[in-house]
Amino acid sequence: MIDGYNRKIHYVRLSVTDLCNLKCQYCMPEKGICKKDHADVLRLEEAFAIVKSLAELGVDKVRLTGGEPLVRNGIMTLVEKIAALPGIKDFSMTTNGILLERYAKDLKAAGMNRINVSLDTTNPEKFAEITRGGDLKAVLRGIQAAKDAGLTPIKLNVVVINGFNTDEIQAFIDMADEDMEVRFIELMPIGEAADWNSERFISNNALIQAYGHLLEEEAIHSGPAKYYRKKNGKGRIGFINPISEHFCSACNRIRVTPDGFLKTCLHSNEEVALRPYVDDADALKQVIRQAVHDKPLRHSINETQFVPITRSMHRIGG
Ligand code: GTP
Ligand code: 5AD
Ligand code: SF4
Repeated sequence: MIDGYNRKIHYVRLSVTDLCNLKCQYCMPEKGICKKDHADVLRLEEAFAIVKSLAELGVDKVRLTGGEPLVRNGIMTLVEKIAALPGIKDFSMTTNGILLERYAKDLKAAGMNRINVSLDTTNPEKFAEITRGGDLKAVLRGIQAAKDAGLTPIKLNVVVINGFNTDEIQAFIDMADEDMEVRFIELMPIGEAADWNSERFISNNALIQAYGHLLEEEAIHSGPAKYYRKKNGKGRIGFINPISEHFCSACNRIRVTPDGFLKTCLHSNEEVALRPYVDDADALKQVIRQAVHDKPLRHSINETQFVPITRSMHRIGG
């Protein structure tokens, strides 16, 4: 599909649940989420019907997100069905890794190609603090299980929070290897982080200045990330700079929320309900085509009139 600004849209991020087994401080409210927040979750058959129509419209890259996708009941059946769709070339998941040890092998066997894991610190106490109780060891075991299962290349997503994990950049660079790249992500003013003090936001350029000597100079652009190869040893390091260097002009993605809305831009409140059309593939495709045509040109985070979106991150999936 081509949007109104001539961008090729071929990547869907499907959020299969707003629930999560962690409560990261920048994502989930401390009190957890109310039941009404997840009253209207898409049935997996509906989610599949949407992905099938998207595939028929030219989408060839699918990512399952959450919340935490692995807490959704029946997720493996959906994985198998999506993997079997003709035309899907790249099928992946973004997970917090807590349940990966249990699911890695099955995901690979079901036809998933690779996974991305969110991990913001390698210190067990700090991990428990930022995730409000998470067990770092479970994530590390999960990453190993994913490597063993061949769900590679794994991408480790590190949201950089000034004063929290800025002292661990070197440790994360050291973790990158042939099977796993490490990507530093600029914290975005979205979800719980919408109200955070600006001092906690740090530009990735500051990291490149401080740690660039560890990296080969030539940058490779791929999707939202700008990649460098490590100088000593194997592995790639990526920087995702949604704030300092937005990648909207090369945006190729749309999102489907757990309650069945199509979001054509992460930072826009525009949403199109898909549920009313799931039983009629032609109508569904028509609504999707129109929404893609109307996809906004870019976000305006750096402009004075910017207003953070009202939907929280765990109900979008990043
Ligand atoms: P790959 O195909 O593996 O490169 O996946 P990805 O980078 O698209 O997916 P992932 O879920 O790992 O996203 C990485 C980070 O980039 C997340 O923190 C997202 O919040 C952020 N991100 C992904 N897409 C967008 C986008 O369209 N806009 C902005 N501003 N941030 C995004
Ligand atoms: N800013 C940047 N990244 C975020 N994520 C969640 N909230 C934010 C935010 N405010 C990341 C998660 C995960 C991905 C899906 O989105 O850490 O890697
Ligand atoms: Fe869960 Fe991911 Fe949100 Fe953390 S960032 S609470 S792991 S959905």
